[in-house]
Amino acid sequence: VTSELRVGLLGRGTIGSAFARLLEERADGIAAATGRRPVLAGVLTRSEGDFEAILEGSDAIVELMGGLEPARDHVLRALRAGRHVVTANKQLLSQHGDELWAAAAEGRAQLRFEAAVAGVVPVVRVLQESLAGAHVERVHGIVNGTTNYILTEMARTGAPYEEALAQAQRLGYAEPDPSEDVDGRDAAAKMAILARLAFGTPVHLDQVPYEGIEHIAPDDLEYAREFGLGLKLLGTAERVDGGLSVRVYPVFLYPGHPLASVTGPFNAVTVESEAITEITMSGPGAGGPQTASAVLGDLVSVMTAQDSPRALTDDLEIVQDVSSAFYLHLEVADEPGVLAQVAQILGLQGASIKSVVQKGLGNEARLVMVMHPVAESKFFAALELISALDFLRAAPRAIRVIEEEFV
Ligand SMILES: NC(=O)c1ccc[n+]([C@@H]2O[C@H](COP(=O)([O-])OP(=O)(O)OC[C@H]3O[C@@H](n4cnc5c(N)ncnc54)[C@H](OP(=O)(O)O)[C@@H]3O)[C@@H](O)[C@H]2O)c1
Repeated sequence: VTSELRVGLLGRGTIGSAFARLLEERADGIAAATGRRPVLAGVLTRSEGDFEAILEGSDAIVELMGGLEPARDHVLRALRAGRHVVTANKQLLSQHGDELWAAAAEGRAQLRFEAAVAGVVPVVRVLQESLAGAHVERVHGIVNGTTNYILTEMARTGAPYEEALAQAQRLGYAEPDPSEDVDGRDAAAKMAILARLAFGTPVHLDQVPYEGIEHIAPDDLEYAREFGLGLKLLGTAERVDGGLSVRVYPVFLYPGHPLASVTGPFNAVTVESEAITEITMSGPGAGGPQTASAVLGDLVSVMTAQDSPRALTDDLEIVQDVSSAFYLHLEVADEPGVLAQVAQILGLQGASIKSVVQKGLGNEARLVMVMHPVAESKFFAALELISALDFLRAAPRAIRVIEEEFV
């Protein structure tokens, strides 16, 4: 005799409705594999359902409403009442993680969220289980498919940002309001969640500095090509000086980097540690059926596991100032001594130029250079001084660079 797992579904939009369909399609197979048949016990939207009744009549809650409230209240109450929770809500996890994990422990309930981080790419499971014994040094991620699509199109066609964004919206890769994707906040939330798992340290979205791609110009991509570099919106979480740094920035990557070849609306995450060297996982970043399949996978885990996997606990200090290499683009008056002055200001802050391309344009010149790694605070101090030079014709443009490390 198969027993039932009664599932309360909160939200039936893009993901919720795809999940409800998939649940029905797969119920028999799951019942055969696990001995329990998942059945939909109730649905909550703005116009239907009552949360109290759904909670009462469910063994597990699947939260696909999104947003902070009432999702936070419902998930907390479900966990405390001993209901397992599966959610795809990255904003909630990255801003109320501590409270959610405490509620799960209190109710002895599982909290699972594979679909919240890198779409369908199973990084949460891999970090929590397969790599639980690896001392992770660094996690790099392309965790936002919208921006990866836009940057791929800009590089491929030379189109300006606005045009590539409009194209992404036409194809359904960008939302009508794409702000959280293009300004880097969505990726920052996902990196906060990944960092907590990989380093056992609570990281709040507010502790993740981020920058988006709205200011990227087509000629930045063109010049970078001359240096052999390609542009990605990259999330990084890494050990720095005994602490932890988590950040999201547009970054130029050398062509051999495992994430350099990830194009279009795809996501990918690279985990580095001495024990494993490096593992890269990639796949579709979003989409109804794909995300729903990750949610259903979590539900099956809920049925087969005794407990949530617990991340190792540590309490690393969050480090703000890290060392980075930079690409720097300056438009200047074409006068003698300009490059020497720029180099001197940079040099006083300890920043040295690795390579430079100079192009004359009538009375003006463009200096495009790649710097060796330097503390970001020092680089930006130099940049402020350079901005004030009277031969400068436009605001300097600086973009971080990851170059090949030769060992
Ligand atoms: N879309 C993706 O590709 C994707 C990928 C990964 C993760 N996610 C995450 O998945 C979650 C759901 O996203 P979605 O795209 O499916 O959202 P959506 O299409 O906007 O659907 C949201 C659903 O939640 C319901 N809802 C919202 N606020 C509510 C409230 N106050 N009370 C009751 N019901 C409420 C809505 O009800 P009504 O129908 O009555 O409006 C709707 O059914 C979000 O956390 C999102 O970040 C989405």
